[in-house]
Amino acid sequence: MLAQPDYSALLTNIGRYTDIVRLKGRRLLTVRFVEQKDAGALMSYFRALSRQSRYNRLMGAASELPSSELDKTLHVGEGSRFAVIAEMKTDGAHAIVGEARYSYNAETRNTEFGLSIGDEWQGQGIGSAMLSNLECRAAALGSFRLFGETFRNNEQMIGLARKAGYSFGAAPSDWRQVRFEKPLYRATDIPCESWKQAAIAGWL
Ligand SMILES: CC(C)(COP(=O)(O)OP(=O)(O)OC[C@H]1O[C@@H](n2cnc3c(N)ncnc32)[C@H](O)[C@@H]1OP(=O)(O)O)[C@@H](O)C(=O)NCCC(=O)NCCS
Repeated sequence: MLAQPDYSALLTNIGRYTDIVRLKGRRLLTVRFVEQKDAGALMSYFRALSRQSRYNRLMGAASELPSSELDKTLHVGEGSRFAVIAEMKTDGAHAIVGEARYSYNAETRNTEFGLSIGDEWQGQGIGSAMLSNLECRAAALGSFRLFGETFRNNEQMIGLARKAGYSFGAAPSDWRQVRFEKPLYRATDIPCESWKQAAIAGWL
């Protein structure tokens, strides 16, 4: 079995991997790697999610992000696991409006992800924007496929994945869940900073 590369040493100055995405209505969304300083805000974000959103995101009942998960989230790149947050400027301050985690498997060249958008921000195109950004970030790692799993009754996630061109199948580990996946191709332009940085570093 191939050891999972540890990207934490390679990701010096992780601020370089920040993307500014323009949403419909011209608002700007910043997608960047989670840093240690984000721990408090990230915990607050998870606590503020509705029970249903948190359940769908954490795949079970929990009132907050478990500390073991927070720990993994804060160590970006370790064990090929990555975490990003999406921020928007509201009332002059940056607020976390979404988050995602993804993990790259160097053996299968698949990347698995999960994401959430804060309830008050849902339905505004932020999930679609984040998903496109994740596709680019995964491709920059050398991934051939991006996939996720969700409960069969999660209409929002299934709708988002369908709109983004994912195909569906049974989740191997749990009959209550569905797996959605999409092949990734190398970008012809540079739609995310990770791609550019990977090209500069010669990872590709
Ligand atoms: C799933 C989730 C990430 C979607 O994010 P979002 O920002 O609301 O999605 P968008 O506004 O970008 O919507 C994109 C598309 O998704 C689909 N969609 C969104 N909400 C939907 C709903 N309630 N029912 C059906 N389809 C829906 C639509 O096709 C939509 O496109 P449209 O607006 O042109 O119709 C968000 O609802 C969420 O965080 N849910 C809770 C956590 C969760 O379920 N995470 C998934 C775990 S993998």
